[in-house]
Amino acid sequence: MTEPIRPRLARIGAVALADLLGHWPAADGALYRLLAMRIARLADTGELSAGLRLPAERELATALSVSRNTVAAAYQLLRDEGMAESRQGAGTRIVPHRTTPAGVHRANGFFAGLLEASEVVADLSVAIVDCAPQVAAALSEPASVLGAAALTAATGNTGYFPHGLPALREVIAAHLTRRLDLPSAREQVIVTTGGQQALDLLVRNEVLPGQPVAVEDPTFPGVLDALHRSGASVIGIPADGGLDPERLEHVVRTHRPALVYLIPTFHNPTGLVMPPGHRQRAARLAAAHPDTLFIDDMTLAELPLRDVPLPPPIAASGLNRQGMNQPNLVTVGSLSKVYWGGLRIGWIRASTGLIGRLAAAKAAADLGSPAFQQAIVAALLDGSHDDIVKWRLDWLRSRHDALTGALRAYLPGWRWPAPDGGLTIWVRLPEHADGGVFAQAALRQGVAVVPGRLLSATAGERADGHIRLAFTQSPDSLRQAAATLAAVQHS
Ligand SMILES: Cc1ncc(COP(=O)(O)O)c(C=O)c1O
Repeated sequence: MTEPIRPRLARIGAVALADLLGHWPAADGALYRLLAMRIARLADTGELSAGLRLPAERELATALSVSRNTVAAAYQLLRDEGMAESRQGAGTRIVPHRTTPAGVHRANGFFAGLLEASEVVADLSVAIVDCAPQVAAALSEPASVLGAAALTAATGNTGYFPHGLPALREVIAAHLTRRLDLPSAREQVIVTTGGQQALDLLVRNEVLPGQPVAVEDPTFPGVLDALHRSGASVIGIPADGGLDPERLEHVVRTHRPALVYLIPTFHNPTGLVMPPGHRQRAARLAAAHPDTLFIDDMTLAELPLRDVPLPPPIAASGLNRQGMNQPNLVTVGSLSKVYWGGLRIGWIRASTGLIGRLAAAKAAADLGSPAFQQAIVAALLDGSHDDIVKWRLDWLRSRHDALTGALRAYLPGWRWPAPDGGLTIWVRLPEHADGGVFAQAALRQGVAVVPGRLLSATAGERADGHIRLAFTQSPDSLRQAAATLAAVQHS
């Protein structure tokens, strides 16, 4: 299972190492050499700390779905290169090398594909979208959206805005008010470097090491990474078929978590929508537990796959008759999935007090996101948003239909809840299949998928039998990937 590596942890399990290895076989060369190189790289970055005992050869071979000889040859190469040593009865260990305490930390293997260069034929592991043409045009010719005066104004300032460019904060507040039914003011908004920084800032600021945090299980792996890094004690609430509000209430009453993280609109990975009644219950629960911060992540909220009625965010249920906000209801969003991830623009909507604390943390991290880009995004969000959403939905629906159509044709035994929206499906593999072993076998045929346990706080049996597939590649590539996955399944 996915486990945090702490400096004193003396051994790493085979499955945890398999997760850390990421896309290791996606390059030319003998498998044993690729494996040794990847382990050496993890030792170099400190993710495998000095003295750490590597898994037994047989166990690692099973987790990676390779022969034991491959692992034995990789360990031998590591010993030859002076990266590892073996002693009778003490297994194979990483030898001491220079690193930093911050480096000796468990990174979620989910990010390995982004952190290391890899060449897979089809990457269905990350939900990353092409740049919308309207956004590409605005970036290459900013004057086309800003106009001459605004273009001059965009560079006529210090460029340092830890809260975000005032114009963009204003437009985001208006966007939340009008399009997402959440009345908002500029002072309640901070601009962040994508949704990931929004979550990271909230976790760093509001959770102390050891404090409990509740998440849906499965959930977005990026939040699990931020939580593991912060030392939080993560509690997963089963949510394969949607979150049961009774279970949420039970967890909050029993554990009094510092934070509850939810994705009510087009949940990642299932794509389901939390019904309005459950949202109202969550808001009432938050009112009864003012010390727990409830985060509603709306990063995927503008990506419906069909015409479903969209309930407003949980924070909208927390407004009292005077329109006053419940201070422990926080909303997070991002333009990465509708516009383009390369913009790295996201936001947090929260009480003005919390926004002030987050801005101080953001100032310490990066003194603010790039101001010029924020000016362009403000103009797009104010002017072309409907066009961009329309373009993105056509783009997305053709991809969803291509993948699910091909899976139904090639793999009739696979099951997944039909997503209402979002960029992924949560596939339950046939009886007794292990998502981790399947993902390793698929990777060697050039298709990257995410094993379910990387999206699970508990990495229990339920998650192990799943994989997550993102449908953000071209329709043709998705069809070919489905054929490859079928060949892997039937081999
Ligand atoms: C639910 C959710 N939140 C946050 C993020 C991160 O967003 P960004 O790419 O803007 O950092 C993602 C990305 O997949 C996501 O699915």
